[in-house]
Amino acid sequence: MQGEGRATPVSAAVAVSESAVPRAQEEEPPGTPIPEPFGVNDRGHLTIGGCDTVELAATFGTPLYVFDESYVREQMRRYRRSLAAHYPKSTVYYASKAFLCGGMAALADEEGLGLDVVSGGEIFTALHAGVPAAKLMMHGNNKSLDELALALDAGVGRIVVDNFYELSVLEEMAAERGVRPRVLLRITPGIEAHTHEYVETGMVDSKFGFPLVDGLARRAAIMALRSKSLELAGVHCHIGSQIFSAKPLEAAAEVMLAFMAEIREVTGEVLEELDLGGGLGVRYVEGDDPPAVESFVRTIGRAVRYAAKRHSYPRPHLMIEPGRSIVNSACMTLYTVGGLKEIPGVRTYVPVNGGMSDNPRPALYGSKYEAVVADRAGDAPTRIVSVAGKCCESGDMLIRDVKLSDPRPGDILAVLGTGAYNYSMASNYNRIPRPAVVFAANGEARVMVRRETYADLVSLDVVPERAAVISPAVPGVADAVASAVAAVDNAEDLAVGQRRIDD
Ligand code: LLP
Repeated sequence: MQGEGRATPVSAAVAVSESAVPRAQEEEPPGTPIPEPFGVNDRGHLTIGGCDTVELAATFGTPLYVFDESYVREQMRRYRRSLAAHYPKSTVYYASKAFLCGGMAALADEEGLGLDVVSGGEIFTALHAGVPAAKLMMHGNNKSLDELALALDAGVGRIVVDNFYELSVLEEMAAERGVRPRVLLRITPGIEAHTHEYVETGMVDSKFGFPLVDGLARRAAIMALRSKSLELAGVHCHIGSQIFSAKPLEAAAEVMLAFMAEIREVTGEVLEELDLGGGLGVRYVEGDDPPAVESFVRTIGRAVRYAAKRHSYPRPHLMIEPGRSIVNSACMTLYTVGGLKEIPGVRTYVPVNGGMSDNPRPALYGSKYEAVVADRAGDAPTRIVSVAGKCCESGDMLIRDVKLSDPRPGDILAVLGTGAYNYSMASNYNRIPRPAVVFAANGEARVMVRRETYADLVSLDVVPERAAVISPAVPGVADAVASAVAAVDNAEDLAVGQRRIDD
């Protein structure tokens, strides 16, 4: 999206290339401007939402996810505005798998979006934040009985049924409860979305949805329409993520409308709703050039209008489910730089106090990111280095070959564009506590998720009896364990362990 009017004139450092093989540093990645919505203040520090990132790091600690709240809201508004302009009979659902916490659920609700949820945990989080169940659309290729029960009992607005087993189970459960949930059928339209193979979900060979081949999707629609306890509202597809062209979605609109027309022909029933999923890509590094929200939505709206016309089908209610394009560019992750490791002629490693535990995407997909030394964001980048995570494996490299402004131990390093699928895919690998999440707006920062503590890490552990006999035998260990345990909040259960140690 470089070149979409999102850059300030300030020069800074960025990642440009990634190679799995260490190599001499002969190819110089150029510096590029700091992308909006980030900026630089008169102290030369990187800013977000009017806040100085170096101060945020000092106040909240690192690693830290910081979102520009206004940017998130504006992305949501752009989707709503442009969909309303090009296809008024429509609803935008935020794909909460991209990033969800209570504050985010509430924000999406405030902005008038529904929420796409894909697990009991996401449903619970949304309900806990006060989002009305009716505004939720539930996905999942293998929803558990408990998750379906939760959805039915809470009155989730729509359930997207993925397979025949789920269709029959849901029908039974709804009948038992005397309810009639609104359902959509997830269809795999067999369209190639030209993206990373792990995130292509609409092809025929997919774990998701009913394939059109062999009349399977048609059979599912007929079954759902015959059911007394299910209300078949429409059909859904999602053909992939990080898509840089709306073309495959145009094709999906045509395939889906053709299918709806086929169902009308076979059953006489007109399906009211068409959900085309999410997928709009974002700029991670220079050269990434996704369409703007407005043109993406315009293309989709037009494609659905044309397809409806072509099949003489009443215009369905159109839903879309963007995730990444709403949150990704709003966020940066702040880390503290450790001691540099220089291997002359090969590579300089800049280690940070996080890594694949808070951002598994580089290790998982080979994803690329840009970074800036937050303390000297206004300075020209000078050194090509690689940013290493702290997890105990060689593959934990956040960025290979990034030009930074002379990074030193103690600096704050900002990795940019980490809003989507970072926090939501974070783990406690190596028992590293997950970072806090902060929303910044108008110079104020608010904690949305507090930082995990060591106490949180052990709070679900059930310590076996034998733990008691280990510590006292080793001088000093008993005291260390006892004081760590004493420091733990809510140490009710742990106190039992401590008493054993004391004994
Ligand atoms: N709707 C459905 C049914 C989906 O499966 C997804 C994403 C979305 C909407 C939202 O798509 P988006 O607008 O965010 O592209 N972990 C991967 C991405 C997996 C996306 C899965 N489905 C990553 O880090 O790139």
